[in-house]
Amino acid sequence: MSHEDFPTDEPAVVTCGLPYANGDLHIGHLRGYIGADAFNRALQTLGQETAYVCGSDMHGTPVAVNAEQQGVDPEDFALEWHDQYEETFPKFNVDFDNYGHTHDETNTELTQDIVRKLDDEGYIYEKEIQVAYDPEADQYLPDRYVEGTCPYCGEKARGDECDEGCQRHLEPGEVEDPTSTITGNPAEYRERTHKFFEVSEFSDFLTEFLDGLEGTSNARNQPRQWIEDGLQDWCITRDMDWGIDYPNGETDDSGDDLVLYVWVDAPIEYISSTKQYSERVGTDEYDWEQVWKGDGEIMHIIGRDIIQHHTIFWPAMLEGAEYNKPRGIAATGFITINGKGLSTSRNRAIWAKEYLDEGFHPDLLRYYLTTTGGLQQDVDFSWDAFQETVNGELVGTVGNFWYRSLLFAYRNYEGTPDADVSEEVRERIEGAIGDVRENVNDYSMRGVGQAATRLAQFGNEYIQRNEPWKLTDEDPEAAAQVIRDCVQIAKAVAVLLEPITPDKAQELWAQIGEDGDVADAHLEDALEAPPRNFDEPGELFEKIEDDRVADLTEKLEERVAAAADDDDETAAADADETESDDSDTGESEGMADTDDLEPLADERIGFDDFQELDIRVGRIESAEGIEGADDLARLEVDIGFETRQVVAGIKQLHDLDELPGEKCVLLANMEKAELFGVESNGMILAAGEEADLLTTHGDAAVGEKIR
Ligand code: 2FM
Ligand code: ZN
Repeated sequence: MSHEDFPTDEPAVVTCGLPYANGDLHIGHLRGYIGADAFNRALQTLGQETAYVCGSDMHGTPVAVNAEQQGVDPEDFALEWHDQYEETFPKFNVDFDNYGHTHDETNTELTQDIVRKLDDEGYIYEKEIQVAYDPEADQYLPDRYVEGTCPYCGEKARGDECDEGCQRHLEPGEVEDPTSTITGNPAEYRERTHKFFEVSEFSDFLTEFLDGLEGTSNARNQPRQWIEDGLQDWCITRDMDWGIDYPNGETDDSGDDLVLYVWVDAPIEYISSTKQYSERVGTDEYDWEQVWKGDGEIMHIIGRDIIQHHTIFWPAMLEGAEYNKPRGIAATGFITINGKGLSTSRNRAIWAKEYLDEGFHPDLLRYYLTTTGGLQQDVDFSWDAFQETVNGELVGTVGNFWYRSLLFAYRNYEGTPDADVSEEVRERIEGAIGDVRENVNDYSMRGVGQAATRLAQFGNEYIQRNEPWKLTDEDPEAAAQVIRDCVQIAKAVAVLLEPITPDKAQELWAQIGEDGDVADAHLEDALEAPPRNFDEPGELFEKIEDDRVADLTEKLEERVAAAADDDDETAAADADETESDDSDTGESEGMADTDDLEPLADERIGFDDFQELDIRVGRIESAEGIEGADDLARLEVDIGFETRQVVAGIKQLHDLDELPGEKCVLLANMEKAELFGVESNGMILAAGEEADLLTTHGDAAVGEKIR
C-alpha cells in the first residue's frame, strides 16, 4: 500500500464485514454496508481505481445453531439467506462489484491454500486443550453451543466472544461455568487436540502495522492494548462438520476430523471475492493480485465488535501467508433505536424489508445513516429524528435549492443561461471539492455529506441574497449570472452527493440535461458547464408528515411490546441488554463531603460576562492518548459547525475507547493552546478530581449553546 492521499496509482479494494447468513437484514447491518458503499463511491469521484466486495459468512456456529433450530441443513439454510442478501443490497443502492460467499469453491480453495502456507512456514502447531462437551447430546460444544462467564470481566459470554461484556474474543476452554446451549445442562471439559496459529510471533509486526494503520482511532487503540497485555496463540480448528475442512499436508492427516474456525475463512472471502471480480472483468481492468499480493490499497469497514479479528488475527495471517496488508480499518459504532440497544430478539429494529415496504426511498436512509454521526459514534434511529433530517436537510436545504433554482432557470432561460460561472461561486465549489477530498482521506462519509449539504445551503443563501426574480427586468444580465451560478452549484451538489444519495443525484443529473451516469463523474466535473437546455424539473424529495411519523413510532412500539409479551423472560432481561439500555443501574449519586470541596467564589460576575463564554454541546468523535504525555488525550469533538481538536487531561481517568459517541460540553471560545505539540482548540468541561465529563441529559442538539 502507499500512504499517499487518494487517489493513488494503486488499485484499491473496499470491503465491509460479512453478514452471517442466518437472518433478516436490519438497519444495524445497513449502516456498515451503506457507509462502505458511500466510501467506495466517494473514492471513485476522486478518480481512485477501486472495487467494493463482500460476501455472506456461511459457516460457524452462528449459522449452524440457527439451521439446527429450524431442522434444516446448514448449507441450504445459509444459501437461502445468501440469496436474500444478494437481492436486498441493491435495493439500498449498495453496489458491490462482487458479492460471493464463504462456502464457494474460490474461498474454500484459497482458505486451504493460505492455511497450508501458514503450516509450511511453521506458524501452526498442535496442542491438547480442554473443549466443552455435552454428555447428554454426546457432542463437543464449540463457540455458540456453549455459554458461561467471561474470565476477563465476569459478564455472561458465549464460547468464543464476550458479547455482552468486554467484547473480547475467547478461546475454547476459557469460558467459566460452561453450559450447553443444546440441552441447558452444565458442560464438562474434555481434552482434544487442536491446531493453533502462532499469533504471538507477530507482536512486533502488529505493533508496526498499527502505527501505520489509517481509519478510525478505535481500530488502532484497542489492539495496542491487547498487544501490550500479551498476545495468545489462536485456536483455528473446531469439532464440527459445518465449515471448511482443515487442509492436510501430503503426509499429515492429523486435521482430518476438524473444520477451520469460521474466523479463518471469513476474512479470506475478502480476497476470494476480489478474485472473482477480477476474473469476471479481466485482470487488465482490475487485477486482484496487484491488490492482495502487490501494493494495492485495502480498506476494511467493520463493526467495532470485530476489531480484534481484523487488526490482530487477520493481518497476522496475511503477513504469515505473504499477502498485502490493509491500509485502513474503520470501525463503526452501533445503532440504537429510540435510545435503546437494537435487539432482533425483541424486535427492536428497523428491518430492511420493512423500511422499503413503507415506501421510503433508500437514499433517505443512506443520508441519515451516513451523516447523523461520525463513523465511530453510535447512531440513534427514531422515526422523529429521521423525519427531522429528511425534512430539514434533504427537503429543506438540498431539494429546495435544486428545485427553486432549476425551475427559475427553466422558466426564464429554458435551461442554463449563457454566462460563465462567477469567481465567487467557482471558488465556493472548489472549496467544497477540497472538503470532500479531505473527508474521503479521513474516512469521513459524514464529512462528505456535510460538504455537499453546506454547498446547497450556500446556494440557497446565494439565490436569496441576489434575488434574481427582481433582477430579470431591472438587470437581465445580472439575473442570468445568478441563475447560471445556481445551475452550476446544483450540478456540483449532484456530483458531491452522489456517494451518499446515488439515485437522487442521478435524477438531478438528468434534470439538468446531463447524459450518462453521475456515478461516473469525478469531482472536477462539478466545475464543468452544464448543458444549455433542460426540461421542466420535478421535486426530488418529499416531506414526511407528522402523522406518518406518529404511526410509524406507534407501530414500532407495539411490536417491541408484543415481542416482550411473547417472551416475558426476555423482557425481564431487557434492562441489561446494552449500555444504552441500563438507565437504572441502582447506583446512588455521589455526594462529596463539603470539607473536600473548593470554596465557593466570593466575587460575582454579571450576565454579560457569562454570555461571553461560548459553551456548546459537543459529541466526542475520537479520543486517543498523546504519546509521551502521561495524562493528556487528544479528542475530536463535533460541535455542529465543525469538529474541534482539544487536549484534555483525562488519559488516566477515562477509558478513551468508550468516549467516542458521548455527548460532552465544550468551552468553544477558550484561547487556543499547544500541549505536547498538539493544538487544543477549546476546553472540555469536567467536574472533580476524576474529571467527570459534563454532558446533557435531554435532546439538546450538538452545537447548541449552553445558556
Ligand atoms: O461478526 C460478524 O457478523 C461476522 N460475520 C463478520 C465477518 S467479517 C470478516 F472477517 F469476514
Ligand atoms: Zn468479558
